[in-house]
Amino acid sequence: MLNELTVNFSNLLLSLSDAVDLANSKIASHQMRTAFIVWQLCRTAQLPEVETDQLYMAALLHDIGALSLEEKQRLHDFIEVDLDTHCILSEALFNLSPLLSPAARVVRFHHKPWREWDDPLSSPDVFGAQILYLADLLERFIVRDQYILLQVDDLKKKILAVSGNELHPEIVDLFMQIAHREDFWFDLTSPRLYSLLLHSGPYRLTEIGSSSIFSIASLFRHIIDFKSRFTASHSTGVAECAVLLSQKFGLTDTEIVQMEIAGYFHDLGKLAVPNAILEKNSGLTKEEFAIIRQHTYFTYSVLNTVGGLDQISEWAAFHHERLDGSGYPFHISADKINIGARIMAVADLFTAVAEDRPYRKGMERKQIESILLSQVNKNANDKRITMLLLDNYQEIVARVKEKQALSTEMFEKKFQQCTQKSS
Ligand SMILES: [Fe+2]
Ligand SMILES: [Fe+2]
Ligand SMILES: [Fe+2]
Repeated sequence: MLNELTVNFSNLLLSLSDAVDLANSKIASHQMRTAFIVWQLCRTAQLPEVETDQLYMAALLHDIGALSLEEKQRLHDFIEVDLDTHCILSEALFNLSPLLSPAARVVRFHHKPWREWDDPLSSPDVFGAQILYLADLLERFIVRDQYILLQVDDLKKKILAVSGNELHPEIVDLFMQIAHREDFWFDLTSPRLYSLLLHSGPYRLTEIGSSSIFSIASLFRHIIDFKSRFTASHSTGVAECAVLLSQKFGLTDTEIVQMEIAGYFHDLGKLAVPNAILEKNSGLTKEEFAIIRQHTYFTYSVLNTVGGLDQISEWAAFHHERLDGSGYPFHISADKINIGARIMAVADLFTAVAEDRPYRKGMERKQIESILLSQVNKNANDKRITMLLLDNYQEIVARVKEKQALSTEMFEKKFQQCTQKSS
């Protein structure tokens, strides 16, 4: 029997922020570094703690609406001309979780230049959005492979050059008050920034429980799934299928909630896979397959560093492990694959074969059954769980499809056009 969940909110935010930027070394930690700058600017402005914390949270996840890795890279390199789309989508995603929604407006306007605002700087949205604007810009100006102190004069010049136009002079002034401090630049570019923020940053003493973790997981499934139309409701389907199998197997209510969270997070590591690979409609090269194989490793390491999600990280990340040890990336076998992970593996396989892929249509019942059974016969997947699914096939399919339809609808209404443009 599992205990109620609690995790440190700072650790969860940092870990998920990291996951969004895992993509490649050129943009790694962009959001975390932006959040550090925001935090320092807020402290210099002597902003009250609640507002500081909210702006910091906004910064940690401000680019979640840039769904493809390719778009993130273009934004970071000042190549993307359409700056509005990812802001609109980030706002929509923030609004899906009551914990994040207070920061949604600031995220919406993080690329809005000062000259386009009609409201005064003193209104909270403007002030916050301008702080985030500066922090994001500054972070992208920094040349990653050059010693930071040698860049400071140039960085100051670049920020001063947009004062009164893109940025309100008072916001620029806050930056000038900290720009002379070497420790600011050393912290900002330190490989230890994660632990610095974890131990001395906002929310370091805030613990959150099951319902808050659930709402964040539920939002993250969309960030993961909406990367591509082929996966637009995948995590929703996997989570629902895993929940139904858990109920039928007889897991407790607490375990079932955790199973749903694990289902939402199971492909978290796919955030690090380029869309060009996810949507490829021919066979993958050896190198591309190696990149795909990393995804469950990242799912595990991102969730496991949060602390308190041990069970969830295993249930989520072992879905490509096989009972005979032939899975990846841990190559564990039956004795180490617990019931939750077995349920997730069956739920993932079932959902995947029923969905359209770039290279094939979603399969029919007969074909699905034979694939599921062949995995049992090969001693890859659990027999009891597979039979539970097959014995309750109609009911499970109907409920999974119903849940997936809701996600697909949200995707088509709001996100699809944008992903077509951005990938
Ligand atoms: Fe952005
Ligand atoms: Fe950004
Ligand atoms: Fe997967």
